[in-house]
Amino acid sequence: MGYSASVVLQTPEQNGSHSMASVTSLSDSVQQHLASALTATRPEAAGADPLLRRSDRADYQANGILALAKKAKANPRELATEVVSHVVTGDLIADIEVSGPGFLNITVGDKAITENLAARYADTDRLGVPHAEHPGTTVIDYAQPNVAKEMHVGHLRSAVIGDSLVQLLEFTGETVVRRHHIGDWGTQFGMLIQYLDEHPHELDHKAAEVTGEEAMSNLDRLYKAARKLFDSDEEFKTRARRRVVDLQAGDEHTLAMWQKFVDESKIYFFSVFEKLDMEIRDPDIVGESGYNDMLAETCRLLEESGVAVRSEGALCVFFDDIKGPDGKPVPLIVQKSDGGYGYAATDLSAIRDRVFNLKADTLLYVVDARQALHFRMVFETARRAGWLNDDVTAVQLAFGTVLGKDGKPFKTREGETVKLVDLLDEAVDRATSVVREKAEKVGLSEQEITENGRHVGIGAVKYADLSTSAVRDYKFDLDQMVSLNGDTSVYLQYAYARIQSILRKAGEARPVAHPELALAPAERALGLHLDQFAETVLDVAAEYAPHKLAAYLYQLATHLTAFYDQCPVLKADTPEQTENRLFLVDLTARTLHKGMGLLGIRTPERL
Ligand code: ARG
Repeated sequence: MGYSASVVLQTPEQNGSHSMASVTSLSDSVQQHLASALTATRPEAAGADPLLRRSDRADYQANGILALAKKAKANPRELATEVVSHVVTGDLIADIEVSGPGFLNITVGDKAITENLAARYADTDRLGVPHAEHPGTTVIDYAQPNVAKEMHVGHLRSAVIGDSLVQLLEFTGETVVRRHHIGDWGTQFGMLIQYLDEHPHELDHKAAEVTGEEAMSNLDRLYKAARKLFDSDEEFKTRARRRVVDLQAGDEHTLAMWQKFVDESKIYFFSVFEKLDMEIRDPDIVGESGYNDMLAETCRLLEESGVAVRSEGALCVFFDDIKGPDGKPVPLIVQKSDGGYGYAATDLSAIRDRVFNLKADTLLYVVDARQALHFRMVFETARRAGWLNDDVTAVQLAFGTVLGKDGKPFKTREGETVKLVDLLDEAVDRATSVVREKAEKVGLSEQEITENGRHVGIGAVKYADLSTSAVRDYKFDLDQMVSLNGDTSVYLQYAYARIQSILRKAGEARPVAHPELALAPAERALGLHLDQFAETVLDVAAEYAPHKLAAYLYQLATHLTAFYDQCPVLKADTPEQTENRLFLVDLTARTLHKGMGLLGIRTPERL
């Protein structure tokens, strides 16, 4: 008992099995060498950052001497020369020289590059990527559609960005709790439930196997009919309003009917998430209704502590710096004057749950930028109440709007919001024809064409979303998204598939690292970029910036293209060179595969 518990409780850091595999990057090693040279030159320079960067002129450039010279009132070129004299050149630093006003140009040895890449290659699962130094627990709020409503492109962004962050954070060793804060509560349910009560067969299914599409069309039909009645029939309206009271009072029959709407909607949600090739788990769906039991207490705590005050009957929180256009303060309303609770009370209760029950130290919300004011007020309220503090941070990863080709918020020609499912289907259609064009040459079966079409189409949509910084708006342009040239997922998927094809054609030749071989410039460039994967992933996860991973992968594919142009793989000069190049491209493929996986995108083996 004691034995198994101690094993279970060990974190990856403690048992050391993962950190063993992590590989110190070349840039880190060079950085360390320089730091000790700096200390050797000037004791007061201990701990100074040499500011190492990748450079076009050499492999790396260190810019840190300039600031140091300024501080020490020394001549920067002289100081730089002194530092160089303390650097021991060898396998790692093959060459170092002073350039310009006092930069250092550093060239790394070919052997060090290959050995370093070989260590990454040997670590099949993580490619030498270490865990974050101080992983914690993040509760991430993403993929939160609304019950009985169609999903639109806004929900796409939250799902796609959120899913990628989940993969990224988990990969760095973070404990991630997913929360899908679906809109499953509110006064609109009174109307729906009342209607269903009066038309009990509206949500019945024709067959046992109900599709997402059928579920949504049921809900949509019911919603429209209920709305119509609500707007035209005063007596129905009164009955619907009474239903809201029953629902909030927890009346059993009313709740059972509400549950039908939730279940029907989930059938639809799951079908969309499946289309998106995304794993959403039922227990992680904790919608607004999940916090019902906490709402009264949340309000009591806020009122007793004086964080919230009664104003015209409503329970409000005021902020000095948040005012409406008329100059009057805009409060956060936690409880309405009629006693009803809204969106804010739910989010505040969710914070209490996530901090005190789920033990989060980070709360991450992947939500539309248009809700930024709401979250600013909610977070500030929680801070005043002491639920958020220096140990627990809350962040809204606010994303921008999806625009149509015309640069306006994405709408159909009739001005309606575009159904997410329609967009996804169209993306898959387009991608399938792109795949089909090359299918014969590659020898793809009909089944492979269909499957690849899905992976290329969905990948294209995800990549377009993830490759621009989340805060920015972006244009939903399918032509661009499935284009084979440029910064698209298809381009990356082809890069991957091309490598697989070379590996298949290699016959007897296997990928083997040969550190003794001299590297061509394109091999060095590719290798040095591969070496940066670990740092990129850790930065991307820490900054919640998947677009930087997308940029990294695109550059990787670009380096690969340059490499192909200059370095024949199967027709290299010697068998060793072929093996070494196979090793380079195979590591590139694994890096592409891993990186794309962290973005939620598949890499088909044959395209
Ligand atoms: N359901 C909301 C919407 O569709 C998003 C929920 C965001 N999360 C939250 N904790 N408020 O806009």
